[in-house]
Amino acid sequence: VSLKPYNTFGIDLPAEAFVEIDSLDTLLKALSFEDHPDFFILSGGSNLLLTAPLRALVLYINIQGKEILSQDGQTAIIRAMAGENWHELVLWSLGKGLGGLENLALIPGKCGTAPIQNIGAYGVELKDVFHACEAVEMATGILHRFTAEDCSFGYRDSFFKQEGKGKYIITSVELKLTQTNHRLSTSYGAIQEELHRMGISEPAPGDVAKAVIAIRQSKLPDPKVLGNSGSFFKNPVIPTAQYAILKERFPELPGYPQEGARVKVPAGWLIEKCGFKGYRKGDAGVHQKQALVLVNYGNASGQEVLKLARQIQQTVQETYGIAIVPEVNIV
Ligand code: EPU
Repeated sequence: VSLKPYNTFGIDLPAEAFVEIDSLDTLLKALSFEDHPDFFILSGGSNLLLTAPLRALVLYINIQGKEILSQDGQTAIIRAMAGENWHELVLWSLGKGLGGLENLALIPGKCGTAPIQNIGAYGVELKDVFHACEAVEMATGILHRFTAEDCSFGYRDSFFKQEGKGKYIITSVELKLTQTNHRLSTSYGAIQEELHRMGISEPAPGDVAKAVIAIRQSKLPDPKVLGNSGSFFKNPVIPTAQYAILKERFPELPGYPQEGARVKVPAGWLIEKCGFKGYRKGDAGVHQKQALVLVNYGNASGQEVLKLARQIQQTVQETYGIAIVPEVNIV
């Protein structure tokens, strides 16, 4: 089976075997195979760089379904099964008059993987609306329920990337949204500019979503047109003291103060200043409008993209003494 249609980078590599999982039942059956094969859990494939054929049984998690579980006039709890497309859930919730997901519009991928890396954009992270999720423990087939606390969310990080890595398959996600008194997050400069441009001074959640969609479409390549996995690297968080020293040498270095005497530095800036923005080698390249995004112009291999990523990491390290690490799963 070629995995090309199943990863947004559009890398053409095969998997040994492939099963589509469309219910909890099929999932439990697949996991109970006698001669336990190696499993590879595949979801939206939007945060994945394949660099070699997969010698594994791919479980393509595609369980569908979404519903409002409860509502009291103030807040609503919605549940989405793992295979639901994330952006469609965002639009669906807004259509039901619910607020909370507007800043997370147009993020590629499916609902089940949203908690793994605590997806985030424009000042909001999944953890801000997260209520609970259910996940099957692969070794036992037992369905566990995880609260936000259990998930230990961090910046593009969670329990499922740490202690829980490779052990669970998330089957559904519950989110806590607002029916009234929406808490809009519009402090991000780009959102304010876009709302202003749209002539909106008292935005509803749907207006914020529109602004976010416009911003993303102007900067981020559509994976259907140009293969990519969104931000390829995480933004590095460095000690304030190190930032201060760098700032003397590079006065324009942007930085956003974080807890614990640390500063988040935009990796896109570092990569752009190293001259990589719009760089292309063969079919692997750095997006012209966002240096944090690596792209596949058509037939790049995973190895070519990886080689470019390593070259960028090395140059940023040599120039700024900062290690940038991939956000994308490299397999
Ligand atoms: N910048 C540059 N050149 C570039 C890109 C960025 O100088 O080519 C600098 C600018 O100073 C800009 C700053 O970086 O002000 C921040 O850029 P941007 O707002 O585009 O966001 P980002 O830090 O590059 C992060 C997330 C995105 C998310 C945006 C908006 C990570 C790894 N990425 O990107 O998430 O959409 O903020 O909130 O945290 C993703 O994770 O896949 C993703 C797209």
